[in-house]
Amino acid sequence: MSDHIKLFIPGPVEVSEKTYAAMCRPMIGHRSKDFQALYAGIQPRLQSLFETKQPVFISTSSAWGVMEGAIRNLVKKKVLNCMCGAFSDKWFDVSKRCGKAAEALEVPWGSPIMAGQIEEKLATGEFDTVTLIHNETSTGVLSPLAEIAAVMRKFPDVLLIVDTVSSFSVLPIAMDALGIDVLLTGSQKALALPPGMALFAVSERAFARAAELPDRGYYFDFLEFKKNQESDMTPSTPTISLIYALESKLDDIFSEGIAARHARHERLNNLVHAWVKRRGFDFFAPEGFRSKSLTCVANNLEISVETLIKTLKQRHRCVIDGGYGKIKGKTFRISNMGDETDETITTLLAQLDDCLDHPAA
Ligand SMILES: Cc1ncc(COP(=O)(O)O)c(C=O)c1O
Repeated sequence: MSDHIKLFIPGPVEVSEKTYAAMCRPMIGHRSKDFQALYAGIQPRLQSLFETKQPVFISTSSAWGVMEGAIRNLVKKKVLNCMCGAFSDKWFDVSKRCGKAAEALEVPWGSPIMAGQIEEKLATGEFDTVTLIHNETSTGVLSPLAEIAAVMRKFPDVLLIVDTVSSFSVLPIAMDALGIDVLLTGSQKALALPPGMALFAVSERAFARAAELPDRGYYFDFLEFKKNQESDMTPSTPTISLIYALESKLDDIFSEGIAARHARHERLNNLVHAWVKRRGFDFFAPEGFRSKSLTCVANNLEISVETLIKTLKQRHRCVIDGGYGKIKGKTFRISNMGDETDETITTLLAQLDDCLDHPAA
């Protein structure tokens, strides 16, 4: 791994040697008692992280599988897709591709989704489902989930699907207390696992809605997950190596402590924010709505982001992200997710200083 370039992009993030080692354990049958013990063993800790009494399901797919599945399982009448960046915009497209009636609640990239905007749309009575990306990774915007969930409670027939792909385990997200109907995340972001696995939980009323919908398919049928979970299994052959990795990561998370983990992410995020200000850059997201897991830096100084990334890679063997889609080069993103520490983030920021101060050295 000597030629490895360390990842500070907002996913996939760096994976520890301990996690890789966990993945190398010998294979077991997915219908065996060993697998049932593995799955049952991690379940209470997953429920505690999701802050739910519902079972937490493991999907052998990236997050998009469950994001699409949630649309197929829940949308009967019409879905309101909240759009504020690349991933949330795409979800609207996915809803339409699933043949669902869908409408966009669209704000400019860099803005959050506000609870009042959702309330106005839901007051029309047209919708039975809302999709929300908690932390829009492309723009570094964190939408106000607690306020949005409070508004949703005024519309008890409307189900809320929340993508926490890049916020899960970074800050508290209380599924049951907030009344979230589907909470989903992926493996390669703040959990610092390799890609290929999604985790999700489903409320009772969302299961009831799914039971009314005929075209759920098979692979992402929430009721299949529920049925198999009753015997600590998954509907199809799961990514057992990644589940070993997850088990190992849960050991890490619970030995660090969930509150300490959240505090670490906040602290590291603050280090990056202080650097942004010291260098004279702006933030792409407004104050109060900035991600805790990554920083989307506005390139107001008009540096060559491409050169910065190239120099960082060549000189320090690290990589940050050069901006997503239409804001490539106008922004760049620094991740503080996963296993990063005060030391690794401080080192990265010093390396960025070196690249900016001595571009041709
Ligand atoms: C917020 C968010 N949602 C969904 C996705 C899609 O995840 P995947 O490509 O792993 O399916 C991403 C990927 O970066 C993301 O950041």
